[in-house]
Amino acid sequence: MFSGRLNIEFEPNRLSQLYEAKKSAGEKILDLTSSNPTKSGFVYDEKHILAASGKESLSYNPDARGIITARETVRNYYNEIGRIISVNDIFITPGTSEAYSYLFKLLLNPGDEILIPQPCYPLFEYLAMLDSGSVSYYPLTYNHKNGWKADLQRLSGLVTPKTKAIVIVNPNNPTGSYLKRDEYEAITEICGKNNIALISDEVFSDYSISPGENYLRTVAGEKSYLNFILNGYSKMLALPQVKFGWILVEGNQQLKNEAVKRLEIISDTYLSVSSMVQNSSEILYGTRGRIQKQIIERLNRNYEMLSHKFLLNPNIRLLKCEGGWSAVISFGNMLIPEDDFVFNLLERKNVLVHPGYYYDFDKEGYAVISLLTDTDILEEGINRLLSIYN
Ligand SMILES: Cc1ncc(COP(=O)(O)O)c(C=O)c1O
Repeated sequence: MFSGRLNIEFEPNRLSQLYEAKKSAGEKILDLTSSNPTKSGFVYDEKHILAASGKESLSYNPDARGIITARETVRNYYNEIGRIISVNDIFITPGTSEAYSYLFKLLLNPGDEILIPQPCYPLFEYLAMLDSGSVSYYPLTYNHKNGWKADLQRLSGLVTPKTKAIVIVNPNNPTGSYLKRDEYEAITEICGKNNIALISDEVFSDYSISPGENYLRTVAGEKSYLNFILNGYSKMLALPQVKFGWILVEGNQQLKNEAVKRLEIISDTYLSVSSMVQNSSEILYGTRGRIQKQIIERLNRNYEMLSHKFLLNPNIRLLKCEGGWSAVISFGNMLIPEDDFVFNLLERKNVLVHPGYYYDFDKEGYAVISLLTDTDILEEGINRLLSIYN
């Protein structure tokens, strides 16, 4: 009866089962994985957020690309970070996840694939699957001096006639690594040579912690073949509930025109973004400075605290993170299966961290924690982790 698109395991794994059992038993768990900014103790500009939708919202004036004032707000963001772009190249979407879905409808035939970084955020497999596509992984490799880097030779060798796009997450979730200029240039060349698009997911790009040399905050305004740049208020303003994102299209003029014509049809078919949200976008954008200041302070404080915590431990180390909301710890030397490491921690110490396999690391021995976590909770959680794994 059902389509074969949802080819997944529906049963919760043993970590989730233990978590639910402990919650139902009323145990207090230190959750070091939460990335919901609205539940992380930040102070929002309530007055502006709640009053953001004005009188314009009483009438309906649909536009497939998005209401012009919303697109102007997005353009102003790029101007503020030093990039000149046109409002005509922007499509407003109901968040970044849906933006991917628009792009997969634009680019993929059933069975086609996208190349995504490994490790990376787990939603891609689902997003591709729901649009009858699939993913193939290009590795990011780590060394402690320089951090993570895309293996460009492997990437180039992975392109097949079914490949329609390369995805960059900048900075990547969970590794926190920013794209460097030389990587971007090489990837753009691969795109041009193979006639494929680049999708640059920049939802965490405002949240730098310690970026390396030659990092690119955005690829907007850079030389391109056919680029789709994604961002949105979910992370930029820490407002995931607002469901406001966008696609910025850049590249070779002829390809761009073809892409934009088709995106207009896709977007016009759904007209998904609420007018109230679009009309609010400018006022909401005004809250960016205040919320980002708090988040950036917390990310930096937590990263620094973690750096000190693991300094004296020979078996566990904190991997270099340049930006974003998560941190990776590596415990490969201990030869404990990842699943046991995280399960024991929850079972014995009531501390929840994510195993690396949630993010498709190429081997065992990693755990991922959220740098949005309240610093006291994070510190207590790491003390407990070290009390069993020291
Ligand atoms: C890298 C990355 N891209 C996109 C998203 C989804 O963003 P949105 O809430 O705008 O759909 C997330 C959410 O965590 C993410 O981590």
